[in-house]
Amino acid sequence: MTEQSQGPALDNLLTESRTFPPSDEFAAAANAGPDLYAAADADREAFWATQAERLHWDTKWDRVLDWSDAPFAKWFVGGKLNVAYNCVDRHVESGHGDQVAIHWEGEPGDTRTITYSDLLAEVSKTANALTELGLQTGDRVAIYMPMVPEAIFSMLACARLGLTHSVVFGGFSAEALRSRIEDAAAKLVITTDGQYRRGKPAPLKPAVDEAVAQTPTIEHVLVVKRTDTEVAWTEGRDIWWNDLVDKQSDQHTPEAFDSEHPLYILYTSGTTGKPKGILHTSGGYLTQASYTHFNVFDLKPDSDVYWCTADIGWVTGHSYIVYGPLSNRVTQVVYEGTPNTPHEGRHWEIVQKYKVSIYYTAPTLIRTFMKWGKDIPAKYDLSSLRVLGSVGEPINPEAWIWYRENVGANRTPIVDTWWQTETGSIMISPLPGVTATKPGSAQKALPGISAKVVDDQGKEVPHGGGGYLVLDQPWPGMLRGIWGDNERYRDTYWSRFAEQGFYFAGDGAKYDNDGDIWLLGRVDDVMNVSGHRISTTEVESALVSHPTVAEAAVVGATDPTTGQGIVAFVILRGDAVDGGEDAVKALRDHVAKEIGPIAKPRQVMVVPELPKTRSGKIMRRLLRDVAENRSIGDVTTLADSTVMDLISQGLNKGS
Ligand code: WTA
Repeated sequence: MTEQSQGPALDNLLTESRTFPPSDEFAAAANAGPDLYAAADADREAFWATQAERLHWDTKWDRVLDWSDAPFAKWFVGGKLNVAYNCVDRHVESGHGDQVAIHWEGEPGDTRTITYSDLLAEVSKTANALTELGLQTGDRVAIYMPMVPEAIFSMLACARLGLTHSVVFGGFSAEALRSRIEDAAAKLVITTDGQYRRGKPAPLKPAVDEAVAQTPTIEHVLVVKRTDTEVAWTEGRDIWWNDLVDKQSDQHTPEAFDSEHPLYILYTSGTTGKPKGILHTSGGYLTQASYTHFNVFDLKPDSDVYWCTADIGWVTGHSYIVYGPLSNRVTQVVYEGTPNTPHEGRHWEIVQKYKVSIYYTAPTLIRTFMKWGKDIPAKYDLSSLRVLGSVGEPINPEAWIWYRENVGANRTPIVDTWWQTETGSIMISPLPGVTATKPGSAQKALPGISAKVVDDQGKEVPHGGGGYLVLDQPWPGMLRGIWGDNERYRDTYWSRFAEQGFYFAGDGAKYDNDGDIWLLGRVDDVMNVSGHRISTTEVESALVSHPTVAEAAVVGATDPTTGQGIVAFVILRGDAVDGGEDAVKALRDHVAKEIGPIAKPRQVMVVPELPKTRSGKIMRRLLRDVAENRSIGDVTTLADSTVMDLISQGLNKGS
């Protein structure tokens, strides 16, 4: 942690006091009642065993939890299951083969309806194809794809074969893909020729070609034709999906794997430049993804139409498009494109078309909808909606109320769900038929989960007090480590409160007077831009890799739409060009190329110096003051106290 993050900011202590209890009808029909908390409190392990029984196990576990090697957990020890069987086959076997699993909506308006029988056939064919390519249980497969059905078939085929997938967001750069392939030593990349983005096809495969030129572990590149974009082709290495998968048998017998078999690796930003490969395994992960999806969204498999707007490149897509929903026999919408293509009512048009009843999205998108205006959702029939969800960052009460009024007709419960890539599934959230919800608060740890707000010393703070969010009990979906780096796993999450054995989430939080939890954002050097985690160091290293940059410091500044916006302060090299518009544009583009467009700084400010402490640490707190147009705070720990004057003068001159 750096100097500015010694304590979470409490300046936004919230004064929100409205509450919204569920209606009697909703509560009466809800999957989860208040007894769920009581059951979990009575015996946590027995509670999780009951939840695990919602899945099909080929071999039952002989022990629920082994925490003897903490912080490396083992859940459902000795149990064996096949994750894909649980998400697909068993629904066909129980007579629901004709139920629609996925209503897929392409950005240009093309559609596919995929029943559970179709899904079983597709996943089986894909599994047979991966076997033909020589992949074996335990091998890693990179998936770098837009939101096409084949992405889901690929994930499930990996799960079916015991291959560990590493999905890399399709908006990431070739360099980001390369480093992730290298870290996991993946043997195969599955991709597409191109992807639709805001109405236009954009090439995707060139980034794969660039990445795999430097990753000798890759044996094949499997390419789905999506945009009919012309692509370069390496004979022997590259294979069209249609040529390989279509000819396979649609029969495939799944094998059961150990409960702790690695299911996937998903990279997320940490406080250093190198992303962490978060490792999730099978039995515990699926248990919690399934349980939370069923109870937090009150899923009724026979009547609901569910839609989670995330991309499968993020953990929300893993747990709440693929594993949780499909394990619960969901009927869901999967949408390929952006929310304003071809018009700003696209989401509501989709809700109306498929009669979506559960809608799960991110605060940044809700604030974007607010900006576009309430007239847009008002044009559509949204009466099918009955539960709304939010994830990714703290939702401000204003956005929460707007969501409830303009999307939920003042009627639907809103579940504000707090969790992380590392937690695997939702941890803190209201239950829609139980909790009287509060705009802006995630409120309570779910039954079976324990979370606390503690001070610097690890002591729980009283109601009304603020501090750090910790998880004080292991949970089934918890990460099992950082791929290839046990040391970093201990350091990052378990060293801050080592004495107490708490998992440190990196978030600030407070209790209100009722003891409900309010999340206050990250307390480390991780920014949250539109719900995406990006580390300041990652952007700084991208900037300094540009030949004109001598030094760079990056901060996340409050942004009304994206939550935080990336603001970069750079010192140019002596002989470099001046800090004019072209130079700034070149730097923004350079970051987009190095990491991906989501990491493009909102602003780049060229400065003569950076504020540093005597020990050389950059004082980001002061830079944040500049970025947020505040008067500069305490500068007494600066090595050179005139630096801030220099920065302010330079900026006034420059802009
Ligand atoms: C933030 C996304 C407040 C938080 C599932 C966390 C939230 C980080 C919420 C994880 C929420 C997520 N309220 N903050 N409901 N949900 N966060 O790994 O800072 O992409 O640590 O997982 O997002 O982001 P990640």
